Amino acid sequence: MTPFDPVQVRSEIPLLARTVHDRPVIYLDSAATSLTPQRVITAMSTYYQRSHANVHRAVYVTAEEATALYEGGRRDVGLFLGSTHPDEEIVFTKNATEAFNLFAKSWGRANLERGDVVVLSQMEHHANIVPWFQLRDEIGIEIKFLEVTDDFRLDLSRFDELLEGAKLLSITGMSNVLGTINPLRELTQRAHAFGALVLVDASQSAAHGPTDVVDFDVDALICTGHKMLGPTGIGVLWARREILAAMPPFLGGGGMIADVSVDGFTPASGVTKFEAGTPPIAEAAGLGEAVRYLRELGMEAIATYEKGLTDDAIARLAHEFSGRVRIIGPTDGVARGGVLSLDVEGVHPHDVAQVLDQFGVCIRPGHHCAKPLMKRFSLAATARVSFGPYSLQSDTNILIESLHHALELFG
Ligand code: ALA
Repeated sequence: MTPFDPVQVRSEIPLLARTVHDRPVIYLDSAATSLTPQRVITAMSTYYQRSHANVHRAVYVTAEEATALYEGGRRDVGLFLGSTHPDEEIVFTKNATEAFNLFAKSWGRANLERGDVVVLSQMEHHANIVPWFQLRDEIGIEIKFLEVTDDFRLDLSRFDELLEGAKLLSITGMSNVLGTINPLRELTQRAHAFGALVLVDASQSAAHGPTDVVDFDVDALICTGHKMLGPTGIGVLWARREILAAMPPFLGGGGMIADVSVDGFTPASGVTKFEAGTPPIAEAAGLGEAVRYLRELGMEAIATYEKGLTDDAIARLAHEFSGRVRIIGPTDGVARGGVLSLDVEGVHPHDVAQVLDQFGVCIRPGHHCAKPLMKRFSLAATARVSFGPYSLQSDTNILIESLHHALELFG
C-alpha cells in the first residue's frame, strides 16, 4: 500500500482550492460534515449523466445500471463496515438521525414494553437521545444514562447497576464534542453479559479509524455518508441479519411491500422493507466510491495520521495560550479522535468562529446537538475544531494565528 499522503488527499478535494476573504479555505469542521473528493462527485454525476433511472422496477439498460450502482454501494458499505452479509444487513436511510429513528421505532416498538430499560450515555448526540425519549413517551420505557467523568471519559463505575435488566445499550463510538473514543469491545462484552443488545453511533468514528462490526461484536451500528467523504442525503443502519429480519417496517409506501390490497399490505422481506420510496441512488453510488477511497487510503493510516495532527495541535495550543484556550476533552493520552472543542477565555464561541472566518478558518460554534453533555460541563457552547484526512499541520498554524487575533480583539 502506498504511504498515506495528506497533501495528495487534499489535492483531490476541489473545495480546498477555493478562497474566502482572499484567503485559502482552512477547513476544520469535518465533525459537522467532511469534504468531498472529486472521484465521489464524479461517481454521482456519472449516474445522472449516464444511468439516471429508478432502481429495482425496470429492465431497460440504464435502470439495470442504476440498480447495480445502488446495490453496489450497499456492498461497498458492507465491506467497509465488516458486514458478512451486506445484502441482508445494510439499510440505506436519509441520514444517521433517520437510522436512529428507524431502529428506535421499529426494533423498539417490537421488542420493548413499559418499564424496559434502554441505556444511553451523557455524551450522545441528540439523534441517539430524542428518538428514545419519543419512545418513552409512547410506550413508557425507562432511559438511563452512563455519566461522563470530570476528565471527559465514560464513567463506567455504575455500568453494572445501569445495565442490570436493560434491553439495549445505545452508545457513541466517539463523542462529537469531546473527541473521546469509547471502548466498544469492553462495553459490548459487559452489556451482552446482562443480555442487552448494543447499538453504536459510529457517525463520528467511521471515517477516522477502522470499523469492524464483527470485531466490535456489536448488534447494530449507524453511520452517515456525509461525514465519510460521501454525499449528504444518505445514512446507514447495519444490524445483524436476524435482528433486521425480525423488525417490522418503519416508513410505509412504495418499494417496501410484497403486496397491497384494499384490505392491507404485506411488507417485502429483507432490507427492502425498510427502504420505502425512491431511495438515494446517486448518494449510494457516491458513498460506495467514498468508502472505496477510504479503504485505499487505509483506515489505520488515517487514524495514525489524524492522531499525530491532534496531538500536535493539543501541545501547540497549550504552549501558545498558557491556559487561555482550554480544550473540553481529554488531553492526556486517552483514546481520542481529531475533535477539539475549545473554550477561549473571555470570547464567546460564536465570536471566535466569526474572527476565524476572516482568516478563512472554518470551525463550528454551538452546542453541537449534544445538550446533555454541554449541561454536564456547564457550558452553553464551544468553538469546535475538527480534522479530516485532508487536514495539514499548516492548518493548525493558521488556527493559532487566528485564535491570537480573537483573543486580542475580545479577550
Ligand atoms: N452532528 C454534526 C455535528 O456534530 C452535525 O456537528
